[in-house]
Amino acid sequence: MTHFYEPAAGHGLAHDPFKAIVAPRPIGWISTISAAGVVNLAPYSFFNAFSSRPPIIGFSSEKLGDSLANVRETGEFVFNLVSEALAEAMNATSASVGPEVDEFELAGIAKAPSRMVAPPRVAASPASLECRVLQVIALTDLDGASAGSHLVLGQVVGVHIDPAYIVEGRFDTAAARPLARCGYLADYAVVRELTKIRRPA
Ligand SMILES: Cc1cc2nc3c(=O)[nH]c(=O)nc-3n(C[C@H](O)[C@H](O)[C@H](O)COP(=O)(O)O)c2cc1C
Repeated sequence: MTHFYEPAAGHGLAHDPFKAIVAPRPIGWISTISAAGVVNLAPYSFFNAFSSRPPIIGFSSEKLGDSLANVRETGEFVFNLVSEALAEAMNATSASVGPEVDEFELAGIAKAPSRMVAPPRVAASPASLECRVLQVIALTDLDGASAGSHLVLGQVVGVHIDPAYIVEGRFDTAAARPLARCGYLADYAVVRELTKIRRPA
């Protein structure tokens, strides 16, 4: 028999397994800027790509935080890839600090200018995606009640790749050592090797 539960009634385990089941999740390290020009940087693991042509990515904020406020104000964000080497810096930018705090400065992270949007990118990221916001969707549950989360979707309008990670015309994902979010509080995975599975003809 499986351990079955209906989430609304509780999971019946010592710790909620939901995020350990939907794992690993890529981390969107999202830089934004407020209308007043204050830069913000925060990690989001409710993050993924949803379309390739045009490229569309999104992240979900479970609080009315600074990233959400900024995308609503200015309509732009930048995804920065978190490599294993950037793990501690990424983690530092998840601190709950006021909207006046620039997490790049807080965590000692070097900025690089973006080309198509105002928020700067993380200079040391192997790749960054500059985005313009398409939709901010307030998530609701089956009863139509607010889930308290907002899904931000953006179209990628500019792509930066560190040439060190371009090998024979391909972005070398394993060399970039992307960090991914796993189950419980401190759990992460790092992609160090890829495996090949050919699709059926
Ligand atoms: C690896 C990692 C992933 C996170 N993913 C999310 C997420 O998907 N959604 C969310 O609301 N908060 C997430 N958080 C927490 C936010 O980063 C944190 O609340 C942060 O203060 C939000 O910053 P902001 O208010 O500047 O946007 C995550 C934290 C870490 C360390």
